[in-house]
Amino acid sequence: MSDHRAFYEAGYSLADSGEADRMGRWRALGARSKGAHVADLCAQVQLRPTSVVEIGCGDGALLAELSARGLAPALDGFELSGPAADLARAREIPGVRRIEAYDGVRVPAEDGAYDLAVLSHVLEHVDAPAALLAEAARVARAVIAEVPLEANRSAGRPAKRSEAARIGHVQFFDRSTIHALLAGADLTLVAELSDPLPRAHHAFFAEDRSARARAGVKTAVRHAAWRAAPRRAETLFTVHYACLGEATGAARLAP
Ligand SMILES: C[S@@+](CC[C@H](N)C(=O)[O-])C[C@H]1O[C@@H](n2cnc3c(N)ncnc32)[C@H](O)[C@@H]1O
Repeated sequence: MSDHRAFYEAGYSLADSGEADRMGRWRALGARSKGAHVADLCAQVQLRPTSVVEIGCGDGALLAELSARGLAPALDGFELSGPAADLARAREIPGVRRIEAYDGVRVPAEDGAYDLAVLSHVLEHVDAPAALLAEAARVARAVIAEVPLEANRSAGRPAKRSEAARIGHVQFFDRSTIHALLAGADLTLVAELSDPLPRAHHAFFAEDRSARARAGVKTAVRHAAWRAAPRRAETLFTVHYACLGEATGAARLAP
């Protein structure tokens, strides 16, 4: 875990302030989609949580988005990387009570402490996703997990795999693997969605006009393929997939 932690501590401690600023804007952009996904999943099952924990909250971009959306009056965040937890705490996000670095294994909270746990773009970064999901299910009655589905033809190309490895991905999921992970954590799937992502996402790192034009075409092609056949689309290129699981056998949270 210590090498793993060092990797994420370095990722949030960029010396180049221009690059740190750019990555901050990238995370804020991502948080808009991720926050919309959390809200959509909760709306699908009329879940109105009182307390939410984000495990692997990074620099707090998603917590800020969830706070702005009024998802829950009480929000907490736990993070493997100390510098990331410091950045998240410094935001002073309304509704946030605790943001703490932890060992990446045992979330420092009681069983059932939260109505909802969020694991957003974390499971693909860990060697033992089943254990982390089980830990989320220990501290919350419902869990939202979001991952990129990277077990597809485009993401399997060597250049894409090495880019994914560079940013710390060690798992390459498809939807059925996530379903199996949920079942293994005694969570019943109650809502799910996929998203081929907006143009702003695909164009974010485009450096010039022609790269931006290519990103526009890529977005249009992917959205058309996804609208026509969403399950086939995810075998061809990466979409973000988010799902909500509730503790099997638990009483539903009252809306
Ligand atoms: C791609 S970032 C996602 C951050 C945030 N959840 C979001 O969606 O914007 C992945 C985060 O997971 C954290 N992480 C990796 N392994 C972890 C673990 N075992 N427990 C908690 N966080 C972990 C990393 O430090 C990093 O901040």
